[in-house]
Amino acid sequence: MRIVLPVNELQAPWIIDEDILSEHGAPLVLRGAAATEALKNAMLRHGIISVRVRSADEHAPASKHALPAGLIIKVRQNVQKLVLKTVRERAISSKLLAEVTEQTALLIDALFSGETPVFSELRSLSNYDAYTYEHSWSVMLFSVVLSRIAWEDGLVRNLDYTSRLNLGMGAVLHDIGKTLIPPSILNKAGPLDEKEWEQMRLHPQHGFDLLRPYNLIMPMIRAIVAFHHLRPDGNGYGLAKGKTLEGDAIPQLVRIASIADAYDAMTSSRPYQKGRLPFEALAIIVAGAGSQFDPGLVPLMERIVVPFPEGSLLFLKDGTVASVQLPGGLGEHHGRPECVVVASFAGGGQRKPGETFILRDQSVIALGAASPEDLLIRALTEIFEKIATFKGSMPLVLHSALPVWRELFQNALDKINNDRLCAPPVY
Ligand SMILES: [Fe+2]
Repeated sequence: MRIVLPVNELQAPWIIDEDILSEHGAPLVLRGAAATEALKNAMLRHGIISVRVRSADEHAPASKHALPAGLIIKVRQNVQKLVLKTVRERAISSKLLAEVTEQTALLIDALFSGETPVFSELRSLSNYDAYTYEHSWSVMLFSVVLSRIAWEDGLVRNLDYTSRLNLGMGAVLHDIGKTLIPPSILNKAGPLDEKEWEQMRLHPQHGFDLLRPYNLIMPMIRAIVAFHHLRPDGNGYGLAKGKTLEGDAIPQLVRIASIADAYDAMTSSRPYQKGRLPFEALAIIVAGAGSQFDPGLVPLMERIVVPFPEGSLLFLKDGTVASVQLPGGLGEHHGRPECVVVASFAGGGQRKPGETFILRDQSVIALGAASPEDLLIRALTEIFEKIATFKGSMPLVLHSALPVWRELFQNALDKINNDRLCAPPVY
């Protein structure tokens, strides 16, 4: 079994299922490490909030592509250093920029060889401050792989070495302007007011200005930084001073980066939102095809991410919670996901804990999340007023659950109730 757990619930026999970097960019935990009290305490000290784990009997999945693990850690680490140094010095370090460019070029070569990578893992979250650099890193991966299939399908022409590297580096740097936005705005728990939005909308301009001293930065990299929030319908925002673009005038590589950016933002947890599962983010991207996103590129996104990754938790409309045990999707590119009912809320649904089923119809799902706590918070805030089954009932009462899950859900319920008593709710 795979799941995302809050770090304070980490204990033997869980196995850590991801590489985690410290806030300084040093590897803190490597995938495959067994959970121990010492490891848990070290992660808490470094501000790690949640972590992806698997049970000890579960093997790490065989990778479908051969990305060199050492290189991945190195690039992530240097992207992190680049962002942190820009925050401190309000200028981009040319040495780090050169290093990241060199390593990104190697990674792009790996992403373009062998089988097309498919992203099939649940997102966890190290800590909220890590968002900007983890986001830069993920948007780079998604953009490059999206460009590869767009190129293989003939939608993008002339994707030569330089264009690939421009896209990769544009994606790494797309939000570098956020380093000049106060953390109180970036990490605000509630919605931004108009003044704060005004500042947020300046980040493409800030990024553009930060790159100004570097003659060697290609125009396409600057375009991605400046225009990644423009939309084909002319809405969105770009440079505060200077020109704007719409429709086909927005370069294709910028449009690729904006889809990757939106997808990663929606599937990440932030202080003001719980991360959505891939199937939910994909549905929103599909709904924005033509207005917000390039309609030709949108269908490609479903080919590079698995809509229902293993370990996804689904809150079904009948009050049961299912965990995806065989990943998949409902479209033509993936097999149907296999789920097991792990818990049942309110009066209990038609299916009992332990029952497995093949998911064929998305309309039975109210919402999804990566961890029990996120699922219950989203259920509380997003569905109980909207779905007839729960109206007027006390919804978050655990009816029945499989053994391990009973404890996970009960702990999550206790924490939510405790947080509500102790502090004004921020969700
Ligand atoms: Fe942005």
